[in-house]
Amino acid sequence: MTSHTTPPPSLFDPVSIGALQCANRIVMAPLTRCRALPGSLAPHALNAEYYAQRASAGLIVSEATQVEPRGIGYMGTPGIHSDAQREGWKLVTDAVHAAGGLIVAQLWHVGAVSHPDLQPGGELPVSASNVELSGTVHTQNGRMHRVAPRALRTDEMPGIVEAFRQASRNARDAGFDGVEIHGANGYLIEQFLRDSTNLRDDDWGGSVTNRIRLALSVVDAAVDVFGRNRVGIRLSPVSNANACPSDSNPQATYGTLIEALARRRIAFLHFIEGNTGAAHFTDGFDFAGARRGFPGTCIANNKYTREMAIQAVESGAADAVAFGVPFISNPDLVRRLQLNAPLTPANTKTYYGPGPIGYTDYPTLESVQAG
Ligand SMILES: Cc1cc2nc3c(=O)[nH]c(=O)nc-3n(C[C@H](O)[C@H](O)[C@H](O)COP(=O)(O)O)c2cc1C
Repeated sequence: MTSHTTPPPSLFDPVSIGALQCANRIVMAPLTRCRALPGSLAPHALNAEYYAQRASAGLIVSEATQVEPRGIGYMGTPGIHSDAQREGWKLVTDAVHAAGGLIVAQLWHVGAVSHPDLQPGGELPVSASNVELSGTVHTQNGRMHRVAPRALRTDEMPGIVEAFRQASRNARDAGFDGVEIHGANGYLIEQFLRDSTNLRDDDWGGSVTNRIRLALSVVDAAVDVFGRNRVGIRLSPVSNANACPSDSNPQATYGTLIEALARRRIAFLHFIEGNTGAAHFTDGFDFAGARRGFPGTCIANNKYTREMAIQAVESGAADAVAFGVPFISNPDLVRRLQLNAPLTPANTKTYYGPGPIGYTDYPTLESVQAG
């Protein structure tokens, strides 16, 4: 007798994420490493080598890349707004593709998570409203306290959306397989989403409909360029990353946003469950309900172990799982998870640039065993 029940997928099975045929369900999470070329902030050969080493991931989400000069909040992060940056990213996508991988660009604007020392002309960073996020920013002049940003004028909003549209074109021309809109971790899009940081009374603030307008406009701009099946978004409904205060009702705000994204049938949602890089939890937002209502792929992230990831995919709680820190120090993470081999721990001191140490010099399992 044959059984008609399909066995649950495994973490190591292929998955389609929109138009992308991924070899497995292990995603490399976006990881800022601050190793773009000084001056041009263009990616270069070292970055191409790093990403190609990790091309066995089912999908790589690139480190966040700023869509305009004001979108920067850290020294040495790559942009995707100039010709040199586009050409630099081409080195990266070519190297990943040559190694058999897939890579989408994470499009980013930090908004208030910056400092005048990093901004063009020493201007104030921009945001939804002039709400200061506590914390410090590392600049060429040392560590500085964040400042209250300048609220974007209503007539400047189309320009922000255009920056994401042009960045999407640059990503396409640089050979990326798609884009992930960075709607998480307290950066500009999330500063508009949350009523704690968005105090506006124009069409871009106030009601949930208005607060989700920037996220949806940016997604629509990316879809215009790439088509809906190569666009996803990263969301962190309950994270307090970058000291961004919580929304008063994450369920209503993010739930309404996700319903609108479901109607657009974009390729994927990428959820950070809990506090980014800290506690994993799912209280405060119905992640399972959001997944049920979304027709595309759901990628889960935050502090997943091998066992948690296997369980999440086999139980249907997630279609794929993204790993961040484990990919920093294990270029062959997929193989190690397959074999249940030990993982090399990451050195936090070399997370952020410059140079190859703690970047391209982490060993594969073979070289560990040989050495
Ligand atoms: C060094 C470092 C850089 C990061 N850069 C980004 C980034 O550019 N974009 C982003 O959305 N998240 C970023 N994150 C968060 C990770 O993508 C991920 O959500 C977090 O590390 C939790 O996943 P993990 O427990 O598997 O590491 C970064 C985290 C680390 C440690």
